[in-house]
Amino acid sequence: MKKIKLDLTDKQYEITIGAKLVRQINRFLKEKKYSQVVYLVDVEFYKFYKDRMDNLIKGYNVMFNFGGEDYKNLKYLSFVLEDMIKYKMDRKSALVIVGGGVTGDLGALAASLYMRGISVIHVPTTLLSQVDSSVGGKTAINFEGIKNIIGTFHQPDAVFIDTTFLRSLSQKDILSGIGEIIKYGFIMDEAFTDYIKLHIDELIEMEPAVLEHVIHESIRLKALVVTADEKESDYRKILNFGHTIGHGLELLDNFGLSHGQAVAAGMIFESVIAYDRNLISKEYLDEITALCSKVVTLKEFTDNEKNYIIKNLSYDKKNEGDSINMVLPVARGQVKVINDIKKEEIHNSFRSVI
Ligand SMILES: NC(=O)c1ccc[n+]([C@@H]2O[C@H](COP(=O)([O-])OP(=O)(O)OC[C@H]3O[C@@H](n4cnc5c(N)ncnc54)[C@H](O)[C@@H]3O)[C@@H](O)[C@H]2O)c1
Repeated sequence: MKKIKLDLTDKQYEITIGAKLVRQINRFLKEKKYSQVVYLVDVEFYKFYKDRMDNLIKGYNVMFNFGGEDYKNLKYLSFVLEDMIKYKMDRKSALVIVGGGVTGDLGALAASLYMRGISVIHVPTTLLSQVDSSVGGKTAINFEGIKNIIGTFHQPDAVFIDTTFLRSLSQKDILSGIGEIIKYGFIMDEAFTDYIKLHIDELIEMEPAVLEHVIHESIRLKALVVTADEKESDYRKILNFGHTIGHGLELLDNFGLSHGQAVAAGMIFESVIAYDRNLISKEYLDEITALCSKVVTLKEFTDNEKNYIIKNLSYDKKNEGDSINMVLPVARGQVKVINDIKKEEIHNSFRSVI
């Protein structure tokens, strides 16, 4: 079992990584003396781990939630808030969220709004939520077709990452998590990229020692970024590498990409733009493309699809006129926010799949 401490200005909390953490979670909840604990559990996850979950939730009120982007909206947020009222949660109560990034983002948003904010404990159950969404305090739902447009910053009291919960994940959800894992190496740690390159097949096979190491390293790197810039005023933006174009790709229905796969594809196209601008060598572009291609298979887009992707880029509020902000690689293990990307450059980057 390993622990990583997140030391933020107003809050400190621990992220515990290990196997079979039920006892640790129960002990933490008892020590904190919350007035009440309510669980919010991903129903798909519950089907796989009913026995272990029943041990964990025994004696507590439980709400169930669906995973998947279709359920990350106002309607399901209000269901959670209604149940919080029904269970008479008060300001000293805690919501323990057990599920993937969708349940985590939605549940933590509900907790941040209810009575102006109650405690949250994350128990992430997908690889993506373990290496990314459960750490750092971002909460959100989608609204009016715009992803993550309503959200808050709300740091949890603790995060418990149980790697044995990942055995039931679909191949697509494994690859989704690996997409975000790869990103950490590209944005800030070339030694981590070297490790992943060496162990990528074992990682896809979820070999326990490799899995635990990359989860730990991913969280360590994310914690460094979040500690330096909790509210994303500047430096935290580096975590968005691959996300600007990835966002448009994720919305392209017939492509059927998970979040992390879309990020991996986004990292390829955004690296092509960096190469076209002479920011990186062909050798490094090939390295990024090869690693991301372990996670996603690119396809050729029709003109309509290209226009759709560009229309649905994830826009930073600082985008001005025709210029788009994007995080581009500038060297191995290093990225930079570039403010003057043009739509034609994105169009040109799609040639890489021809
Ligand atoms: N808050 C952040 O900082 C942040 C960062 C990255 C991504 N996100 C968000 O995370 C979301 C994606 O998260 P996700 O990929 O976990 O999606 P998800 O929560 O939809 O989970 C994917 C699928 O796996 C199922 N599932 C959950 N645990 C399982 C398990 N152990 N075994 C089998 N199936 C299981 C879910 O029911 C769902 O069908 C997106 O909405 C994205 O915007 C947030």
